[in-house]
Amino acid sequence: MPKNIIHHNAFVTRDRRNQLNGHKSVVLWFTGLSGSGKSTLAHSLEAKIHQLGGATFVLDGDNVRYGLSADLGFSAADRTENIRRISAVAKIMLEAGIIVMTAFISPLEAHRNMARGLFADADFIEIYCKASLEICEKRDTKGLYKKARAGEIKNYTGINSPYEIPVNPELIINTELEDLDNSVLKIIKFLQNKNIFDAK
Ligand code: ADX
Repeated sequence: MPKNIIHHNAFVTRDRRNQLNGHKSVVLWFTGLSGSGKSTLAHSLEAKIHQLGGATFVLDGDNVRYGLSADLGFSAADRTENIRRISAVAKIMLEAGIIVMTAFISPLEAHRNMARGLFADADFIEIYCKASLEICEKRDTKGLYKKARAGEIKNYTGINSPYEIPVNPELIINTELEDLDNSVLKIIKFLQNKNIFDAK
């Protein structure tokens, strides 16, 4: 804990921002193997919510690793630090009134629980993008599985670094079986049921 740091009390609170936006802010934490559809789903969902007038942002693995986490690799310690940074940024964005979508492999239950631990229960929704390694490897959108199999990439999730299946995610989207539009709708419905689109 930092010493001698005193929080300011702001007039413009999260509640006031939510009222102005006409919806609650929330963190949607997507997790899944590389190629499981996290980014695709998060960006499609964002487009839909944006069209409905919502304030949104996607924190995306590949983009964040060019900036905020440019100094980090894929060792266990670096991944933990990556998730720590992202969850801290997501928390700031939550306070800013935004519907935040994070799209990171976040392979370990401990990583996801570390992130979850920063938030109130209602503010953190873990969404598991379920697709088998076989399918993700077949998709190999970035050609990285092939490189990992060839031994050109170390610690590749699913190949020589673990992915732990989420124990208790709020939502599971099976991206092998469900198409993109239906998956987006499923998440929108979930958010409606949680009254996210009501300011109060
Ligand atoms: S995480 O484990 O720290 O959550 P993150 O989502 O940021 O991972 O980054 C994953 C992306 O980085 C993958 O989609 C892939 O494009 C790329 N990548 C490069 N090297 C690796 C690796 N060793 N393991 C997993 N992904 C990697």
